[in-house]
Amino acid sequence: MISSLNSDRLVLNPLDLTYCTSEYLAWMNNPEVYRYLETGGDYKIEDLRKYLESVEANPFMLFWAIHIKETGKHIGNIKIDPVNKRHSLGEYGIMMGDSDEWGKGYAKEASNIVIDYCFRELRLRKITLGVVEDNSAALKLYRKLGFTIEGVYRDHGYYNGKLCNLIRMAIFNPIDAR
Ligand SMILES: CC(C)(COP(=O)(O)OP(=O)(O)OC[C@H]1O[C@@H](n2cnc3c(N)ncnc32)[C@H](O)[C@@H]1OP(=O)(O)O)[C@@H](O)C(=O)NCCC(=O)NCCS
Repeated sequence: MISSLNSDRLVLNPLDLTYCTSEYLAWMNNPEVYRYLETGGDYKIEDLRKYLESVEANPFMLFWAIHIKETGKHIGNIKIDPVNKRHSLGEYGIMMGDSDEWGKGYAKEASNIVIDYCFRELRLRKITLGVVEDNSAALKLYRKLGFTIEGVYRDHGYYNGKLCNLIRMAIFNPIDAR
């Protein structure tokens, strides 16, 4: 079981079945949110329930719901999935589902807490991610967090109606954890 994490403006709580809500479902069906994600819309409440059950059952997945501390509002999710203990790696992903809260620095703040947790507490060596090249908001965020490009998978998949490149990025633990 993972623990809750805190920053100035945010609380991150472990994601579980209690998050099977109409708000979360609406994010999954908002084209603005899913256009560069693997989920691809047309999501049903039963799909969400099954997914959350799989999250609860998976020990190699760390998944937090992001809340604004002051109001308690759930605004997005962040995960490390999977955690690869053998190689000391983790694959990061983020979805700020509530688009009213975009551009306020919440994704950066939540990511910094999780990256710090992975490096200090879990002593992971490296965190990796994949991002569709056209997703400029996410790319900028990742560069600001300190991720650098490791490679490009050309014409890797269809997103937002077109064939896109997928960029692979990574950040290394500055504390020598090996
Ligand atoms: C991409 C996403 C996570 C950004 O969340 P956010 O809370 O708006 O991001 P922040 O406000 O923390 O922004 C952090 C940095 O990212 C950059 N950024 C964020 N949104 C941007 C946009 N629309 N255009 C350009 N840069 C942007 C900025 O440089 C910003 O840094 P700054 O404030 O120091 O200038 C969010 O839009 C999202 O979840 N989108 C849908 C799902 C998705 O695409 N997830 C990523 C899959 S790889």
